[in-house]
Amino acid sequence: MSFTLSTTASDSKARAGVLKLAHGEIETPIFMPVGTVGTVKGVHNKELEDEIAAQIILGNTYHLYLRPGTSILEEAGGLHKFMGWNKPILTDSGGYQVYSLAANRKINEEGVKFSSHIDGSKHFFTPEKAMEIQRSIGADIIMAFDECTPYPCEKSYARASMEMTHRWLRRCFDHLEKIPELYGYPQHLFPIVQGSVYPDLRQKSAEFIASQNAVGNAIGGLSVGEPHEDLYEMTDLVCNILPTEKPRYLMGVGTPDNILECIDLGVDMFDCVMPTRNGRNGMLFTSEGIINIKNKKWERDFSPIDPNSPVSTDTFHSKAYLRHLFIARERLGPQLASIHNLGFYLWLVKEARKRIIDGTFKTWKTQMIPKLKNRL
Ligand code: GUN
Repeated sequence: MSFTLSTTASDSKARAGVLKLAHGEIETPIFMPVGTVGTVKGVHNKELEDEIAAQIILGNTYHLYLRPGTSILEEAGGLHKFMGWNKPILTDSGGYQVYSLAANRKINEEGVKFSSHIDGSKHFFTPEKAMEIQRSIGADIIMAFDECTPYPCEKSYARASMEMTHRWLRRCFDHLEKIPELYGYPQHLFPIVQGSVYPDLRQKSAEFIASQNAVGNAIGGLSVGEPHEDLYEMTDLVCNILPTEKPRYLMGVGTPDNILECIDLGVDMFDCVMPTRNGRNGMLFTSEGIINIKNKKWERDFSPIDPNSPVSTDTFHSKAYLRHLFIARERLGPQLASIHNLGFYLWLVKEARKRIIDGTFKTWKTQMIPKLKNRL
């Protein structure tokens, strides 16, 4: 893996880079569509590649372990081959989904015991197990097993949890060294900064993570219900400590305006379910603002879904047609909305990159933010 930073803006901490992985190059800042169970819901790989121009997608250890399971993934030759996606993949470790989805979870120093949200079956995840499953999946970037604290969170809990996440990280690194990769290309482990919304804990965590000399670093435990000011303050503080020359990944963030603000603070990689999940409910993100396509307002609007979109379905179909699909509960509705939203997120980060390189990022961002938050 290599990461080269081609430019840094003079009036901002925003960066443009190129991240090289076994399955291809990624231009940063980048948004990674979420493909939890080995599919970006409702979106075919061809659309992901040709229309949306996704460069890397995300998979989830927790889900893929439960279904289809590691033995099928191994027999297929890893997730890339299983799902027919030959570009980079990143997998989250399960250290988030276990907390947000699984039932009866019990956490201790050894790991997390939980019941599957699918059939109630009992499982036990440890840092070692999370590494083994991620070897079977075979993503290019794999994540450390951590605890994502909820919001709000008592400081004493946040401190103890962060310290445990740090000990778990050592176990991840140690175990990963002992188990070889299965498919003949390298996998890279990113550690995760925690510490809730407490500046001193965030500082301690970022310093510890930076000292581990990983090839890239992630910021977790944010976008869990805290005010936006906290999200930005913590991201800023952590970015100022994490090494400049390595990619920084802000997990689970966020809205289009969150993404531009955090690019400004020095973040390189993002993922979020919002474009797909909210899209399936009829919420469209556009460069002029947010549309609820189910509103009567769009009933007779025969203009394209988004005239400036790189996605061909956006110019081919009208708002009135998309609204009709939603009202009639036709499957194509959520599909077109997901494709539109992902195309928009990828356009947004590409545009940000262009502006970073030509030195106009800050001015552009200031113009864009009010529009992005606008309700149309
Ligand atoms: N996704 C969003 N936030 C987090 C986090 O804190 N940890 C992990 N593992 N995944 C996340």
